[in-house]
Amino acid sequence: MKVVILAGGYGTRLRPLTYSIPKPLVPLVGKPLIVRMIESLPQSVDTVVLAVSYMKEALEEHFQSQPCGKKVVVVHEASPLGTGGAIKNVAQHLDETFIAMNGDCISSLDFRSLVKAHRENGGIGTIALWQVGDPTAFGVVELDKASRVINFQEKPKREDARSDLINAGYYVFEPEILDYIGKGQVSIEREVFPNILDYGLFGHRFTGHWMDCGTRESFLAAQAMILDLEQPSSASACEGCSIEPPNLIRSGAARGARLGPHACIEAGVAISEGCQVSNSLIMKGAVLEPRCLVTDSIIGPKVVVAKDCHVTESILAIK
Ligand code: GDD
Ligand code: MG
Repeated sequence: MKVVILAGGYGTRLRPLTYSIPKPLVPLVGKPLIVRMIESLPQSVDTVVLAVSYMKEALEEHFQSQPCGKKVVVVHEASPLGTGGAIKNVAQHLDETFIAMNGDCISSLDFRSLVKAHRENGGIGTIALWQVGDPTAFGVVELDKASRVINFQEKPKREDARSDLINAGYYVFEPEILDYIGKGQVSIEREVFPNILDYGLFGHRFTGHWMDCGTRESFLAAQAMILDLEQPSSASACEGCSIEPPNLIRSGAARGARLGPHACIEAGVAISEGCQVSNSLIMKGAVLEPRCLVTDSIIGPKVVVAKDCHVTESILAIK
């Protein structure tokens, strides 16, 4: 079975970090986000079709140097075609039932049960659904009693939202869906789903965990959730540090600092005396000079945070 991963957005909500690293390659607890996504797929998925428009080379280089155990085909869009246009653009690779997914979500979804539900429903597509308190930032799905989608609203106003079930960004489609995606730039959520309800679009609810990692807040919330779940054993030589778990500390070059909870510190980071880091990602080669405070932030590769700086709720990166 093949999976199409939509990995072509600009990652605008993670700027300035995403000027130099595409969102799928941002490390989420020690692994690029997209690698975590691929690892969550069942063995029956043998081919990953990456629909990419932004920073294609970086993604290609990553999979060439670090194979993921599945065949990876990177398909380039000269300019972003939208979520529907990107699927249409890889049509030559799709000849049977396939999985498609947004490239920025992590979850506990069991893809086998999604595929099973799709086959039982017998429609043109099945959307994985997640229940939320406020659905306004998502695609909102209304179902009938037979789990058939009777309404799809992309990012509706609160008062217009017909349910609290949202599109989790994972789909199983029959290849016929390609016939309903027009040429050029097409949003599958806005321009395709509302038009194919009559062909049998179904919803499949799941529980456990789910997160879109597309903003600083949601990325760090996903990082915290994974740290809580995986409780990685952290470091090594942090001389005189006080550490509040869980964290992932891959650099031994911290001394006299307070680290955690929910800190991910990559290799080659230097953290000086008196620094404090919590709920943050400190990427490769960054330097925190004495007495810095970093909370709820992402510090990009090789950024130097000057002594006594307080960085909160920010993304710092070198363009
Ligand atoms: N190849 C390609 N080309 N990929 C794209 C393009 C494009 O033009 N535009 C967006 N993508 C990718 C993004 O990289 C991301 O992985 C995915 O498609 C979804 O785009 P986002 O921009 O992150 O959308 P969103 O988060 O606002 O909304 C989507 O996800 C929600 C769940 O997180 C929608 O699918 C909502 O309906 C859904 O609820
Ligand atoms: Mg998103």
